[in-house]
Amino acid sequence: MNRPKTYHITTFGCQMNEHDSETIAGMLSQMGFSESPGRDEADVAIINTCSVRENADKRFFGTLGQLKKKKLADPEFTVCVCGCMMQQQHVIDSIKSKYPWVDIIFGTHNIHQFPQLLESVLREKEKVVNVWEDGGDIVEGLPAKRLYKHKAFVNIMYGCNNFCTYCIVPYTRGRERSRRPQDILDEVKRLVSDGVREVTLLGQNVNSYKGDEHTDFADLIYRLNEVSGLERIRFMTSHPKDLSDKLIQAYGDCDKLCNYIHLPVQSGSSRVLARMNRKYTREDYLNLIAKLKKTVPQITISTDIIVGFPGETEEDFEETLDLVRKVEYDSAFTFLYSIRRGTPAEKYEDQIPEDVKHQRFNRLVETVNSISAEKNAGYVGRVEKVLVEGLSKTSDRTYTGRTEEFKLINFAGTPDMVGKIIDVKVTEGKTFSLEGEVI
Ligand code: 5AD
Ligand code: SF4
Repeated sequence: MNRPKTYHITTFGCQMNEHDSETIAGMLSQMGFSESPGRDEADVAIINTCSVRENADKRFFGTLGQLKKKKLADPEFTVCVCGCMMQQQHVIDSIKSKYPWVDIIFGTHNIHQFPQLLESVLREKEKVVNVWEDGGDIVEGLPAKRLYKHKAFVNIMYGCNNFCTYCIVPYTRGRERSRRPQDILDEVKRLVSDGVREVTLLGQNVNSYKGDEHTDFADLIYRLNEVSGLERIRFMTSHPKDLSDKLIQAYGDCDKLCNYIHLPVQSGSSRVLARMNRKYTREDYLNLIAKLKKTVPQITISTDIIVGFPGETEEDFEETLDLVRKVEYDSAFTFLYSIRRGTPAEKYEDQIPEDVKHQRFNRLVETVNSISAEKNAGYVGRVEKVLVEGLSKTSDRTYTGRTEEFKLINFAGTPDMVGKIIDVKVTEGKTFSLEGEVI
């Protein structure tokens, strides 16, 4: 039988989506498919979508438009779309009417069904739309084709209960559900025996992980710290309102927990934070940072910031700039507020004009970048432990890796270093990365 043989996955959005794509790739490998280097040569194309901001939506429809030509020329070419956008009915309606040639639509809650859906489309040549509204039980034991050999993502919880007023995620990823601690430990041990040295625990709000009555997030870290062969533990993302003293103490106690935290602040104004439904004030956040820095003086900190949230005044924005200067972030992801359909902030009447948003955005980026460059310059002369990831994209002799504090560092290396933790002396600090030499 002339079965399709190759696939290509395009992933938009966050690490959750990256990891879901690893699962989809794992299932396709099990079905006998191999990965195609380009979307145009593949027999099956999968687009894993993100709905967190409007530009991700636009890029998805742009990508879909590009596939139309190939699909019309070759009806056997199978197009599958999945991810957060598919959890919104208006998106499904628009795909059905404007892109009726899409073969499979599935959602974030039923990724495990993808092999069945694909088999049925290949057999019956009929389109399928199968999206679950809610999470249901967590499905364990799905395969994953990992992006990296030496580091891995491990989901510890799914969904979000926080309903920040700007955010679509609680509607697309459902309510919080935590995996059992033993399932997580078993997976990490399996990964370690497969050569993984660093795990990143994933969840929309890992701090509210609740494995069982004895295991909150900090307990999980303490247990993972005991896994022999594992060298580094990271996690993404935390909500400041749930960051416990116990977890801060875990940084002091657990040698494998990397001295780095991504702690989204979103705004430096308590008034804006209240309207965002973030449930902490500017002062609460600064107190947390002070505690973290006291327990772990060498900690590096990154954040997410939204500019131009409805009603944000010049004074509110100045408070954000001031907070950025006070915290001295190592890096920050900055976003222009983008209206999301169905969220409470969509209805707020005091939307900020685009030009004001952009002007504030540029000022924020300038502030963030100058602090990043200053902090990175402070690393010159230090020797850092670096987990080597591979060749840098720009050269065939420059290797790249991450320090324990999650700084990206480039240095002249050799292929045998990949996957190892080596000592690198920092020779230069740039805005977004370090340069170094192996010692
Ligand atoms: N507009 C702009 N940024 C947003 N984020 C989430 N929703 C929106 C939105 N509607 C940002 C937040 C979040 C990050 C993943 O994306 O900063 O932490
Ligand atoms: Fe969105 Fe807020 Fe949940 Fe993060 S905590 S996913 S920003 S609702």
